[in-house]
Amino acid sequence: AVQAAPRHFLGLLDLSAGELRRILDTSERIKRARRKGAVQEWRPLAGKTLAMIFDRPSTRTRVSFDVGMRELGGETIMLTGAEMQLGRGETIADTARVLSRYVEAIVARILSQDEMLEMAAHATVPVINGLTKQSHPCQVMADILTFEEWRGPIRGRKVAWSGDYNNVLSSWIDASARFDFTLDIACPPDLQPPAERLAAARVAGARIRLGDDPQAAVADAAAVISDCWVSMGDEDEGRRHNLLAPYQVNAGLMAGAAPDAIFMHCLPAHRGEEVTDEVIDGPRSAVWDEAENRLHAQKGVLAWCLGVEP
Ligand code: CP
Ligand code: NVA
Repeated sequence: AVQAAPRHFLGLLDLSAGELRRILDTSERIKRARRKGAVQEWRPLAGKTLAMIFDRPSTRTRVSFDVGMRELGGETIMLTGAEMQLGRGETIADTARVLSRYVEAIVARILSQDEMLEMAAHATVPVINGLTKQSHPCQVMADILTFEEWRGPIRGRKVAWSGDYNNVLSSWIDASARFDFTLDIACPPDLQPPAERLAAARVAGARIRLGDDPQAAVADAAAVISDCWVSMGDEDEGRRHNLLAPYQVNAGLMAGAAPDAIFMHCLPAHRGEEVTDEVIDGPRSAVWDEAENRLHAQKGVLAWCLGVEP
């Protein structure tokens, strides 16, 4: 029999707006039904195993997938490249072929987007992108869920980004195309999204404004988003800190956004750098809900990849 192609979750633009919305609906339903510490009733992944390959540190992605898989009834195996034959030169393709014979899905955090795509090309089970240098789609699913809990439908709204062009911003750009909101970006001239990246997103329907003035970007924004100045894999000789200092989200910058604007950040945060204590600990900071929603969003992603619906 011909096997259907696995449902990978590699980037937001690979899925339709309808599919992404279904994942969020599932996430929300699972969240509402969940009682912490209780055995969940809906355990559609019983008997299934998720391989988790983490080549870089992680707190949220790792724990939310691990707990999420277990709460849906499944099992997990935590792996790092260094302790697999991958670290001794076995190819990504062969690793993907072999893991596919043991487990029902793979989540991976590897910096190289090409390696992530190669893993997906050779796996016969779904591969989930748990962060590459180029994208962090699972994060932004949780972010959309969080925004909508705090402020209602994101469609037609404006959110602002102040800081570096990195994987999280890249997935927010994709999200703008699929969830139909305006993303107003302020990045230092030397750290901006490549023009061809923006052009492709705009063709897909993204509504993006790009500049280098954070005050202009946040004007009337319903959310102000920031992230670290030095992402995993970026060398820093202090250059980024100098370039990014004016992009700090502090009370002054928040004052220029809509009066009820929320603050969002994927975490981990570098307090005193990209955000001040006052903002991240303030009443409009959504970051703890955002972190919690990783769990619910990851369950939604797992359910979609494995073809189960509540
Ligand atoms: N936000 C996020 O992905 O966090 P971790 O690096 O802890 O997984
Ligand atoms: N942009 C950050 C996100 C960490 C979750 C990084 O890539 O390090």
